[in-house]
Amino acid sequence: MSQHQEKARIIRFEQLSEHNVRLTLESPLIVETAEPGQFVMIRAGGSQDPLLRRPFSLHQSSSNGQIQIYFKNVGRGTDILARCKVDETLDVFGPLGRGFQVDKDKPACLVGGGLGIAPMLFLAKKISSLGKNHSRDLIILGGRTRGDVEPLVEDFKQFGLALHCATDDGSYGIKGFVTEILQSEQLAANTQVYGCGPDNMLEVMHRFCSERQIDCQVSVESVMACGMGACLGCNIEAANKDYVHVCIDGPVFNSEDLAWNS
Ligand SMILES: Cc1cc2nc3c(=O)[nH]c(=O)nc-3n(C[C@H](O)[C@H](O)[C@H](O)COP(=O)(O)OP(=O)(O)OC[C@H]3O[C@@H](n4cnc5c(N)ncnc54)[C@H](O)[C@@H]3O)c2cc1C
Ligand code: FES
Repeated sequence: MSQHQEKARIIRFEQLSEHNVRLTLESPLIVETAEPGQFVMIRAGGSQDPLLRRPFSLHQSSSNGQIQIYFKNVGRGTDILARCKVDETLDVFGPLGRGFQVDKDKPACLVGGGLGIAPMLFLAKKISSLGKNHSRDLIILGGRTRGDVEPLVEDFKQFGLALHCATDDGSYGIKGFVTEILQSEQLAANTQVYGCGPDNMLEVMHRFCSERQIDCQVSVESVMACGMGACLGCNIEAANKDYVHVCIDGPVFNSEDLAWNS
């Protein structure tokens, strides 16, 4: 697998809601090998402050050499990125990690909660391009409120897969959690479920799928310093009580391979 460090020019800046931003970057080398579920490390700001790169899922990757990231402004690094302007360049390293394993013979159920929606757009594109029958494919998106979901809906609709939405406050889609929609679906036994979102959401998905012997892949987060297996900062516990690096063994894992806390 080849990684690249690129000076990526910002070609589009979209403020999708109060705190959520999408950047489109010119990144022709990273595009070449990028797979859904992989991530990039981005240095926020030209100086060494903040020192560490920040990890972001590949939200989209296009054959015209462009990648997108979609992020929430939560701290120093993301605040710098949220103030970037078109034509500025960012130091981007990637693609990193193991992405989603897609099986074109299985119905797909994509579940994105909050910022976990980010990698699902690239995954939806890949699944829609497989030339498979999409009648049993499904995307479920959710967030706290309308602004977390609605600005992305048209982008997902272009792929022609069935789409269901939920918000905690009921301002868009059903009032409730994405996991409630998942639990109400009659999934075929050979469905491949893909999830990204908060830990408690992923744990509910894992238990639901495990009880039904449905395959479930989850993309998990961890604080990361290097993104390359060198610092041990991203270790999480595996089901076998061993530890795995989120950055090189993941961020996507079969949910059965991880230790779940409760
Ligand atoms: C593989 C991977 C993919 C990611 N993809 C996305 C994405 O597509 N969109 C997106 O918005 N975010 C994503 N994140 C989270 C993102 O990296 C953090 O939000 C970002 O690093 C915060 O940097 P900051 O300097 O703004 O915040 P800091 O000032 O460093 O921290 C601000 C707050 O955010 C918390 N925080 C920092 N890093 C993380 C983290 N990794 N997970 C959860 N909380 C964190 C801190 O504990 C603190 O409370 C991803 C993380 C990983 C590991
Ligand atoms: S982030 Fe350094 S080992 Fe994973």
